[in-house]
Amino acid sequence: MSNEFVERSLEEVRFWSRIMKEHSLFLKLGFRCEDTQLINEAEQFYAIFESIENRANTFTEGTDAQVIRQFNEEVYSAASYIWVFKRKVLGLILQCKLPGANNFPLLVDHVSREANYFRNRLMELNMGRMEPLPDAIIDENVFFLKIMADHAKFISHLLDPSERRLVEQANHFSEEFDQLLFQAQDLSSMRPQSQTVPLLDQFLDQNRVSVKSLRDFKKTARDLIDACKIKSIIHPLLADHVFREAEHFLVIIDMFEDSLTGKPVDLRDIH
Ligand SMILES: [Fe+2]
Ligand SMILES: [Fe+2]
Repeated sequence: MSNEFVERSLEEVRFWSRIMKEHSLFLKLGFRCEDTQLINEAEQFYAIFESIENRANTFTEGTDAQVIRQFNEEVYSAASYIWVFKRKVLGLILQCKLPGANNFPLLVDHVSREANYFRNRLMELNMGRMEPLPDAIIDENVFFLKIMADHAKFISHLLDPSERRLVEQANHFSEEFDQLLFQAQDLSSMRPQSQTVPLLDQFLDQNRVSVKSLRDFKKTARDLIDACKIKSIIHPLLADHVFREAEHFLVIIDMFEDSLTGKPVDLRDIH
């Protein structure tokens, strides 16, 4: 059990600390050159999450659970601080105090939601209290479908307007994921009666199909951006970043599917 705890903790921290590190870079690149204080703060967060990422990579499955518990607490506090920073930046943008800066408010809100998600995962891991499976399936999908819908919108808005076909495709994904999100919210409001195995199974299948096709679209976009074959203001690392987040969502969907239909399900302990 403690081995499982160490493994899951390291997986989460390795994935999300890299994500948090990259958010710091994207925020920094979006500030105006005179916003030196904000640029400084972003650079500090970059360094903090880089060091967390490096330390997570030095730990192994055999590391003492107590050491990992302590580490998780430290990472939890870093994730809380970056969440506060992101919300502060969102406030500044929405009060028009950073005119001409280049981060969309929705993007700043988005990265703050990801920080908050990371923080909650760490808390759940440390407290050893996971949501019951049927609730986790709905909540995680509601969270990630909104993340995917946002990504499609960012891609559409950061592509050059002359890339008409790609913009159209991105807009199509945006609509598709908005619709999936509404469906997920409907399923959520019908709880607990909606939490039957056939309904949840179908829900996961349907989401998987769309996430796979968005994932492939992101991969293509990433490769085109890397090869400088399309016109956009998308940082190559941002293209890869949103691709990795889609992959992560797919892993979660598959894990839920296994728990739901595979081995006998212990609703209390599988997340
Ligand atoms: Fe992200
Ligand atoms: Fe994201």
